[in-house]
Amino acid sequence: MTEEDFARLKRRFLRYVRDYRMETPAERQNIALKRAHTLRVCRNMGFITRGEGISGADARLARAAALLHDAGRFPQYARWRTFNDAASANHGLLGVEAIGKAKLLEGISRGERSLIIRAVKYHNALALPRLDKRSLLFLKLVRDADKLDIWNVFIEYFGQEKKDRPTAAGQGLPEGKGISPASLRGILENRVVRLAEVKSLNDYKLLLLSWVFGLNFGTTFRLLRKRRLLERLAATLPRGQAAGRVIAHLEKFVSLRSS
Ligand SMILES: [Fe+2]
Repeated sequence: MTEEDFARLKRRFLRYVRDYRMETPAERQNIALKRAHTLRVCRNMGFITRGEGISGADARLARAAALLHDAGRFPQYARWRTFNDAASANHGLLGVEAIGKAKLLEGISRGERSLIIRAVKYHNALALPRLDKRSLLFLKLVRDADKLDIWNVFIEYFGQEKKDRPTAAGQGLPEGKGISPASLRGILENRVVRLAEVKSLNDYKLLLLSWVFGLNFGTTFRLLRKRRLLERLAATLPRGQAAGRVIAHLEKFVSLRSS
Protein backbone atom coordinates (compact mmCIF):
# COMPACT_ATOMS: atom_id res chain seq x y z
CA MET A 1 0.00 0.00 0.00
CA THR A 2 1.42 3.39 -1.03
CA GLU A 3 1.15 6.65 0.92
CA GLU A 4 -1.21 7.83 -1.78
CA ASP A 5 -3.41 4.76 -1.41
CA PHE A 6 -3.67 5.36 2.30
CA ALA A 7 -4.40 9.08 1.95
CA ARG A 8 -7.18 8.33 -0.54
CA LEU A 9 -8.63 5.66 1.69
CA LYS A 10 -8.66 8.02 4.64
CA ARG A 11 -10.47 10.71 2.66
CA ARG A 12 -13.03 8.16 1.53
CA PHE A 13 -13.52 6.85 5.03
CA LEU A 14 -14.07 10.31 6.50
CA ARG A 15 -16.61 11.06 3.79
CA TYR A 16 -18.30 7.74 4.51
CA VAL A 17 -18.62 8.67 8.19
CA ARG A 18 -19.87 12.15 7.38
CA ASP A 19 -22.71 10.63 5.38
CA TYR A 20 -24.14 9.18 8.61
CA ARG A 21 -26.09 12.25 9.56
CA MET A 22 -27.93 12.06 12.85
CA GLU A 23 -30.75 14.16 14.14
CA THR A 24 -30.23 14.52 17.89
CA PRO A 25 -27.13 15.63 19.82
CA ALA A 26 -27.02 12.26 21.64
CA GLU A 27 -27.00 10.41 18.32
CA ARG A 28 -24.32 12.68 16.92
CA GLN A 29 -22.25 12.10 20.07
CA ASN A 30 -22.39 8.34 19.56
CA ILE A 31 -21.25 8.62 15.94
CA ALA A 32 -18.49 11.07 16.89
CA LEU A 33 -17.36 8.63 19.57
CA LYS A 34 -16.73 5.91 17.00
CA ARG A 35 -15.04 8.26 14.57
CA ALA A 36 -12.65 9.46 17.28
CA HIS A 37 -12.06 5.88 18.45
CA THR A 38 -11.13 4.87 14.91
CA LEU A 39 -8.57 7.65 14.56
CA ARG A 40 -6.99 6.77 17.90
CA VAL A 41 -6.79 3.11 16.89
CA CYS A 42 -4.90 4.23 13.79
CA ARG A 43 -2.49 6.14 16.01
CA ASN A 44 -2.05 3.11 18.27
CA MET A 45 -1.35 1.09 15.17
CA GLY A 46 1.51 3.43 14.32
CA PHE A 47 3.04 2.83 17.75
CA ILE A 48 2.63 -0.93 17.60
CA THR A 49 4.00 -1.39 14.08
CA ARG A 50 7.01 0.80 14.88
CA GLY A 51 7.63 -1.14 18.08
CA GLU A 52 7.39 -4.42 16.23
CA GLY A 53 9.70 -3.35 13.41
CA ILE A 54 6.97 -3.28 10.77
CA SER A 55 7.45 -0.43 8.30
CA GLY A 56 6.67 0.82 4.80
CA ALA A 57 3.86 -0.78 2.82
CA ASP A 58 2.97 -3.22 5.61
CA ALA A 59 2.75 -0.48 8.22
CA ARG A 60 0.40 1.47 5.94
CA LEU A 61 -1.65 -1.63 5.30
CA ALA A 62 -1.99 -2.16 9.04
CA ARG A 63 -3.06 1.44 9.44
CA ALA A 64 -5.64 0.97 6.67
CA ALA A 65 -7.06 -2.05 8.48
CA ALA A 66 -7.23 0.00 11.67
CA LEU A 67 -9.02 2.78 9.80
CA LEU A 68 -11.72 0.44 8.55
CA HIS A 69 -11.97 -1.98 11.48
CA ASP A 70 -15.14 -0.40 12.88
CA ALA A 71 -16.75 0.62 9.59
CA GLY A 72 -19.69 -1.53 10.64
CA ARG A 73 -20.41 0.62 13.68
CA PHE A 74 -21.94 3.37 11.56
CA PRO A 75 -24.60 1.35 9.73
CA GLN A 76 -25.17 -0.55 12.99
CA TYR A 77 -25.97 2.63 14.83
CA ALA A 78 -27.97 4.08 11.96
CA ARG A 79 -30.18 1.02 11.79
CA TRP A 80 -30.46 -0.11 15.41
CA ARG A 81 -29.29 2.89 17.47
CA THR A 82 -27.03 0.65 19.52
CA PHE A 83 -23.43 -0.61 19.61
CA ASN A 84 -24.52 -3.84 21.23
CA ASP A 85 -23.93 -6.62 18.70
CA ALA A 86 -26.14 -9.07 20.59
CA ALA A 87 -29.06 -6.66 20.25
CA SER A 88 -28.36 -5.93 16.58
CA ALA A 89 -25.79 -7.68 14.37
CA ASN A 90 -22.09 -8.55 14.41
CA HIS A 91 -20.38 -5.26 13.55
CA GLY A 92 -17.34 -7.01 12.04
CA LEU A 93 -19.57 -8.57 9.41
CA LEU A 94 -21.53 -5.36 9.01
CA GLY A 95 -18.20 -3.65 8.33
CA VAL A 96 -17.26 -6.03 5.54
CA GLU A 97 -20.65 -5.44 3.96
CA ALA A 98 -20.42 -1.66 4.32
CA ILE A 99 -16.89 -1.48 2.90
CA GLY A 100 -18.09 -3.28 -0.20
CA LYS A 101 -21.21 -1.19 -0.58
CA ALA A 102 -19.36 2.12 -0.16
CA LYS A 103 -16.52 0.86 -2.41
CA LEU A 104 -13.99 2.04 0.17
CA LEU A 105 -11.26 -0.30 -1.09
CA GLU A 106 -11.64 0.39 -4.79
CA GLY A 107 -8.23 0.63 -6.45
CA ILE A 108 -6.46 -1.38 -3.75
CA SER A 109 -4.85 -4.63 -4.90
CA ARG A 110 -6.80 -7.82 -4.37
CA GLY A 111 -4.26 -9.27 -1.94
CA GLU A 112 -4.25 -6.18 0.25
CA ARG A 113 -8.01 -5.93 0.11
CA SER A 114 -8.39 -9.45 1.39
CA LEU A 115 -5.99 -8.82 4.30
CA ILE A 116 -7.94 -5.71 5.33
CA ILE A 117 -11.31 -7.44 4.96
CA ARG A 118 -10.24 -10.36 7.13
CA ALA A 119 -8.93 -8.04 9.81
CA VAL A 120 -12.24 -6.16 9.84
CA LYS A 121 -14.34 -9.31 9.79
CA TYR A 122 -12.59 -10.99 12.73
CA HIS A 123 -11.38 -8.03 14.78
CA ASN A 124 -14.18 -8.60 17.30
CA ALA A 125 -14.25 -12.43 17.19
CA LEU A 126 -14.01 -14.12 20.56
CA ALA A 127 -10.96 -16.13 19.50
CA LEU A 128 -8.56 -15.96 16.59
CA PRO A 129 -9.81 -17.90 13.55
CA ARG A 130 -7.60 -20.24 11.54
CA LEU A 131 -6.06 -18.12 8.83
CA ASP A 132 -2.79 -17.96 6.94
CA LYS A 133 0.13 -16.34 8.74
CA ARG A 134 -0.04 -13.00 6.98
CA SER A 135 -3.79 -12.57 7.47
CA LEU A 136 -3.29 -13.41 11.12
CA LEU A 137 -0.55 -10.81 11.49
CA PHE A 138 -2.79 -7.94 10.39
CA LEU A 139 -5.73 -9.27 12.34
CA LYS A 140 -3.63 -9.46 15.52
CA LEU A 141 -2.32 -5.95 14.97
CA VAL A 142 -5.85 -4.57 14.66
CA ARG A 143 -7.08 -6.45 17.70
CA ASP A 144 -4.25 -5.10 19.85
CA ALA A 145 -4.52 -1.50 18.63
CA ASP A 146 -8.29 -1.63 19.14
CA LYS A 147 -8.13 -2.97 22.69
CA LEU A 148 -5.66 -0.32 23.78
CA ASP A 149 -8.16 2.35 22.86
CA ILE A 150 -11.26 0.59 24.14
CA TRP A 151 -9.66 0.41 27.58
CA ASN A 152 -9.12 4.12 27.43
CA VAL A 153 -12.68 4.76 26.30
CA PHE A 154 -14.08 2.79 29.24
CA ILE A 155 -11.75 4.39 31.77
CA GLU A 156 -13.11 7.74 30.65
CA TYR A 157 -16.64 6.41 30.55
CA PHE A 158 -16.52 5.08 34.10
CA GLY A 159 -14.96 8.35 35.25
CA GLN A 160 -17.87 10.41 33.91
CA GLU A 161 -21.00 11.44 35.70
CA LYS A 162 -23.80 9.08 34.67
CA LYS A 163 -25.76 11.82 32.97
CA ASP A 164 -22.78 12.72 30.74
CA ARG A 165 -22.06 9.17 29.62
CA PRO A 166 -22.64 8.50 25.91
CA THR A 167 -25.90 6.60 25.72
CA ALA A 168 -24.74 3.75 23.49
CA ALA A 169 -21.42 3.01 25.27
CA GLY A 170 -22.85 1.24 28.34
CA GLN A 171 -24.16 -2.27 27.96
CA GLY A 172 -27.39 -1.72 29.82
CA LEU A 173 -26.01 -3.70 32.77
CA PRO A 174 -26.97 -3.18 36.41
CA GLU A 175 -24.31 -1.49 38.55
CA GLY A 176 -24.05 -4.45 40.96
CA LYS A 177 -22.12 -4.69 44.21
CA GLY A 178 -19.45 -7.36 44.01
CA ILE A 179 -17.77 -9.49 41.39
CA SER A 180 -19.34 -12.75 40.21
CA PRO A 181 -17.37 -15.97 40.95
CA ALA A 182 -17.47 -16.97 37.27
CA SER A 183 -15.80 -13.82 36.01
CA LEU A 184 -13.23 -13.91 38.82
CA ARG A 185 -12.43 -17.50 37.87
CA GLY A 186 -11.93 -16.43 34.25
CA ILE A 187 -9.25 -13.94 35.27
CA LEU A 188 -7.46 -16.40 37.54
CA GLU A 189 -7.50 -18.98 34.73
CA ASN A 190 -5.85 -16.51 32.35
CA ARG A 191 -8.73 -16.49 29.94
CA VAL A 192 -11.03 -13.90 28.48
CA VAL A 193 -14.21 -13.64 30.54
CA ARG A 194 -17.29 -14.68 28.57
CA LEU A 195 -20.22 -12.36 28.12
CA ALA A 196 -22.47 -15.08 29.64
CA GLU A 197 -20.46 -14.74 32.87
CA VAL A 198 -21.11 -11.01 33.07
CA LYS A 199 -23.86 -10.20 35.55
CA SER A 200 -23.13 -6.58 36.36
CA LEU A 201 -21.09 -3.59 35.30
CA ASN A 202 -18.32 -4.82 37.64
CA ASP A 203 -18.15 -8.12 35.81
CA TYR A 204 -18.03 -6.21 32.56
CA LYS A 205 -14.97 -4.39 33.88
CA LEU A 206 -13.41 -7.80 34.55
CA LEU A 207 -14.25 -8.84 31.02
CA LEU A 208 -12.45 -5.75 29.73
CA LEU A 209 -9.47 -6.44 31.99
CA SER A 210 -9.34 -10.07 30.85
CA TRP A 211 -8.61 -8.92 27.31
CA VAL A 212 -4.93 -8.78 28.30
CA PHE A 213 -4.96 -12.55 27.86
CA GLY A 214 -5.71 -12.03 24.18
CA LEU A 215 -2.98 -9.51 23.44
CA ASN A 216 -0.45 -10.48 20.81
CA PHE A 217 2.56 -8.17 20.84
CA GLY A 218 5.19 -7.15 23.36
CA THR A 219 4.79 -3.54 22.24
CA THR A 220 1.11 -3.63 23.18
CA PHE A 221 1.96 -4.89 26.66
CA ARG A 222 4.51 -2.11 27.03
CA LEU A 223 2.00 0.53 25.90
CA LEU A 224 -0.59 -0.90 28.28
CA ARG A 225 1.87 -0.51 31.12
CA LYS A 226 3.09 2.90 30.10
CA ARG A 227 -0.47 4.19 29.97
CA ARG A 228 -1.31 2.46 33.25
CA LEU A 229 -4.51 1.17 31.68
CA LEU A 230 -5.00 -1.82 33.96
CA GLU A 231 -4.49 0.15 37.15
CA ARG A 232 -6.81 2.90 35.99
CA LEU A 233 -9.55 0.49 34.98
CA ALA A 234 -9.10 -1.67 38.06
CA ALA A 235 -9.38 1.45 40.21
CA THR A 236 -13.04 1.71 39.18
CA LEU A 237 -13.80 -1.72 40.74
CA PRO A 238 -15.31 -1.85 44.21
CA ARG A 239 -12.54 -2.20 46.81
CA GLY A 240 -12.32 -5.66 48.29
CA GLN A 241 -10.53 -8.93 48.38
CA ALA A 242 -11.65 -10.07 44.95
CA ALA A 243 -10.54 -6.84 43.28
CA GLY A 244 -7.18 -7.08 45.02
CA ARG A 245 -6.66 -10.60 43.70
CA VAL A 246 -7.63 -9.57 40.19
CA ILE A 247 -5.21 -6.67 40.13
CA ALA A 248 -2.28 -8.65 41.55
CA HIS A 249 -2.88 -11.47 39.10
CA LEU A 250 -3.09 -9.20 36.06
CA GLU A 251 -0.09 -7.15 37.03
CA LYS A 252 2.04 -10.24 37.26
CA PHE A 253 0.81 -11.44 33.87
CA VAL A 254 1.54 -8.12 32.19
CA SER A 255 4.92 -7.53 33.82
CA LEU A 256 6.15 -10.91 32.53
CA ARG A 257 5.27 -9.90 28.98
CA SER A 258 6.26 -6.26 28.84
CA SER A 259 9.89 -6.51 29.92
FE1 LIG B 1 -15.00 -3.01 16.76
